Amino acid sequence: MRGNRSFDCSSKSVTSQARHSSSNFCLPEDSPVSLNPTTLPTGGGPDGTAPVLIRKGEAVGYCVYIMHRRKDLYGPDAEEFRPERWENGALKNIGYGYLPFNGGPRVCLGQEFALLEAAYTVVRLLQMYESIEMVEGKEFDMPVGLERQLLTLVVSSADGCWVKMKKYSSSS
Ligand code: HEM
Repeated sequence: MRGNRSFDCSSKSVTSQARHSSSNFCLPEDSPVSLNPTTLPTGGGPDGTAPVLIRKGEAVGYCVYIMHRRKDLYGPDAEEFRPERWENGALKNIGYGYLPFNGGPRVCLGQEFALLEAAYTVVRLLQMYESIEMVEGKEFDMPVGLERQLLTLVVSSADGCWVKMKKYSSSS
C-alpha cells in the first residue's frame, strides 16, 4: 500500500508518503517521509536521549511490532501474550506506545468499525460454541517470537491455530 500521507510526530509535521507492510492486529511497520526538516524528540546521542534531526525528504521508519514489545513500556514480560496487562487502567497512559491503528491526522478511519467487528465476532463465537479447545497433537509450545510467523500486510501464525469447537445443541 503506498500513497501520500501525513504523520503527526510530536506536534511537528513529519509528513507524506507512507508504506506499510505488515503486527498481529496491526500493521507491523510504517515509514512516513518528511516534507520539511524537523526533529524527533529523543533517540539520538550516545544514550539515545538527544533529539534526532530529520532532513526534508528523509524517511522515518518505525516498527510497530517492536514498539508493542518494548520492555520499558510494557514491562519485563513484554514478549508474553498477557492481555491482563491492560487491566485496571494499568496502561492507560501508553499513548503512542500502542499504535495498531497509527495516530495523528492519518489515523485509521476504520478503527471503531474494526474494533466493533472484532468484539461482535468474539461475542457471537461465545454465544454459538459451548467449548473451544486445542486440537490434540497441534499444540504449540514455542516461546513468543520463535514461532513461525507469516508476514504479509499483517502478521499471523504460519502454522495456523488449530482448534476444536463444539456448538451448543439446539435444545440447550
Ligand atoms: C484491525 C483492522 C485494522 C487495522 C489494524 C488498521 C490499521 C490502519 C493503519 C495503521 C492505518 C494508517 C496507515 C498509515 O497511513 O500509515 C490505517 C489507515 C486507514 N484505515 Fe485502517 N485498519 C484496520 C481496519 C480498517 C477498516 C475496517 C477500515 C474501513 C472500514 C479502515 C480504513 C482505513 C482508512 C480509510 C485509512 C486511511 C486513513 C487516511 O490515510 O486518512 N481500516 N489503518
